[in-house]
Amino acid sequence: MRARAARALDEILDSRAPADSFLATAAGEDPRDRRFLRELVLGSLRWLRRLDWVIEAAARRPVEEIDRKALSPLRLGVYQLLFLDRVPSHAAVDEAVADARRRGCHRGTAGFVNAVLRRVAAGRQIEAWPVDVEDPIARLAIEESHPEFLVRRWIACLGESRTRALLAANNTRRPLHLLCLDEPEVLIRELAEEGVRCERSELAPRGLKVVEGEARATPAFRRGAFYIQDAASQAAAVIPPPDRGERVLDSAAAPGGKSFSLTSTGATIRVTALDRSLRRLGRLRENQSRLGRITPITVADAALAPFAESFDRVVADLPCSGTGTLARHPELRWRLSDAEFERLAKAGLRMLAGLVECVRPGGLLIAITCSIEAEENDEVVAELLASRPRLTLVTLEKSLLPPLDGHVAGLGKWQVLPTSENDGFTVHALRRT
Ligand SMILES: C[S@@+](CC[C@H](N)C(=O)[O-])C[C@H]1O[C@@H](n2cnc3c(N)ncnc32)[C@H](O)[C@@H]1O
Repeated sequence: MRARAARALDEILDSRAPADSFLATAAGEDPRDRRFLRELVLGSLRWLRRLDWVIEAAARRPVEEIDRKALSPLRLGVYQLLFLDRVPSHAAVDEAVADARRRGCHRGTAGFVNAVLRRVAAGRQIEAWPVDVEDPIARLAIEESHPEFLVRRWIACLGESRTRALLAANNTRRPLHLLCLDEPEVLIRELAEEGVRCERSELAPRGLKVVEGEARATPAFRRGAFYIQDAASQAAAVIPPPDRGERVLDSAAAPGGKSFSLTSTGATIRVTALDRSLRRLGRLRENQSRLGRITPITVADAALAPFAESFDRVVADLPCSGTGTLARHPELRWRLSDAEFERLAKAGLRMLAGLVECVRPGGLLIAITCSIEAEENDEVVAELLASRPRLTLVTLEKSLLPPLDGHVAGLGKWQVLPTSENDGFTVHALRRT
């Protein structure tokens, strides 16, 4: 299992694909092994910078000078020693050394892995490896295992205490949330009978938080009683709530979360799903079939959407940096850069500009991202408004019920930051006049 984890860690750090795609489960795999693999890989990705700090201190050399074949076994070993209680030290050390050998490290390097991990095992608590860096922001970035440029930009826009809360939230394990397609209270009782304990979500009107049990393994999942979706993602989709009979274009729809959340409100709406990725639309179709919510699907570039003035609401869940989802997708934090924010902002603006013509006069254009960066949200919308005088920002307060009304963050803007419960999302609601 640890050898598989080391391989996955290498592959994820060399790739831009989601970590999940490297953690696919083999048929018949024991659920405990599956959970351990995910814990090792996602935990090591989350704490990568802190792990490297410890490795450098224990090895007395920078990680760049360590044989790459030894680095993943070392990182996984340190993660188990300092962040997991139930793994005996000898198991963490011996497995890492054995794995380094299997990966072709020569004897000297395997001995080095052994020596470093024994040093860490001797002081088996994170406090034994203090970050003695003078610059407080650089120190915070290492302590909370985030890229330093990101911590600097968040402190500049959010202030220190909100940034600290955000960093801590990004390092927690998120609970699983379900979007109920059945009546929530009925589903809570049904899942309880199937060994899954849930509570109502504090944020999403039709959301449940799984407190205990394997929701995916239940008959309720198979018969399509719920969709697995973060509470903030569910909530963002219904800002503002749809009216009965609305014709909706979900213009970046796959794998379907925003459409499912919109159709679960009880207002009978008609959704057309569009996405440019055929592969992701395949997943959307599978989800639609399980949930019994088949809608028309179009494969196209949203910027060149083949419709004119036909929708009451156009939802654009834009491709983005995902800075609101760093707890769930820890690999993303090591792939971010200012240039990446700029590239994504341009792509988002291009999509929104192309979609304006699909909104009927008086209808809504809703821009959603799971990013909390101004470049990908506020600045894109400001640029769009400057070039499209027929668009205006919508006053949201009156149309939202508690607790959603508590997250209005300005004219036409709704935002939740990541917490230990949910991801971060930003929504801008515009009306075509
Ligand atoms: C954030 S994901 C959408 C998630 C989805 N709305 C949900 O809630 O499950 C962004 C989607 O945008 C799609 N996409 C990216 N650029 C696009 C474009 N120019 N036109 C249409 N779809 C695009 C991607 O294929 C991806 O499926």
